[in-house]
Amino acid sequence: MGAAGYWLYKHRRRPGDEEKLAKPTPHSTAIEVFWSVGPLLACIGLFHWGVVSYMNMRVAPGDSVQVQVRARKWAWEFEYANGKITDQLYAPVNKPVRLIMTSQDVIHSFFIPDFRVKQDVVPGRYSTLWFQATEAGTYQVFCAEYCGDSHSNMLSKVVVLPPAEYDAKVNEDDTKGVPLVDIGKKVYEGKACNSCHSLDGSPRVGPSFKGLWGKTEALADGSSVTVDENYIRESILNPNAKIAKGFQPVMPTFQGSLKDRHIEGFIEFLKAQK
Ligand code: CUA
Repeated sequence: MGAAGYWLYKHRRRPGDEEKLAKPTPHSTAIEVFWSVGPLLACIGLFHWGVVSYMNMRVAPGDSVQVQVRARKWAWEFEYANGKITDQLYAPVNKPVRLIMTSQDVIHSFFIPDFRVKQDVVPGRYSTLWFQATEAGTYQVFCAEYCGDSHSNMLSKVVVLPPAEYDAKVNEDDTKGVPLVDIGKKVYEGKACNSCHSLDGSPRVGPSFKGLWGKTEALADGSSVTVDENYIRESILNPNAKIAKGFQPVMPTFQGSLKDRHIEGFIEFLKAQK
């Protein structure tokens, strides 16, 4: 801007300029061709480079490992080909991984800074992303689209493992031989129930779990319900069926993402919150 201002002033119109302009301007075809064809070739080169890079970024190799990603306020969920569901993304090293992502509520954005990939995750449609991790390790995942109160806590990890360990992890039944109450604790933390339901009695987006079990809960429609196994199960699978008085119907469903054993574990965990 400074240079432009300087030249504007330096080459301002002065007396006698008309005579100078009346003379013919020298012309060089060679220079004109150079500065026209040169940039044209540069643009074609850049465009080709851009298209190749873009296609490489958008289109996953055909032999990619596919993982479903579901976003909801405020947690990520990953499902593998065999039906295994995890809260962290497990990926094999040196193999392309394609994520097929959707949201169950608002727009989120799946972001792995270490892999230089980020993609919006939108309700009602699928967006995709792929990467190939070249080193085993643990990498941070962020939500990069503001999605409500606990947006900044909507975190996860990508755990990149050697192929054999990856296969073992994806095929392991991590609920086997684990006490129900511990499964419930994992659900509470892994599904980010903790971002809305406290354990210390303080109300957040939803009612606190402290002392909830066995209580008679007043509902928004004026009726009431006893907090028992069936009420909790219904509230997990169909959260809007019965809304506790004083709260908004904003909880997403966990239908399909929690198995019976997870729900039973969660109920045991809730019973323990006296
Ligand atoms: Cu999800 Cu921000």
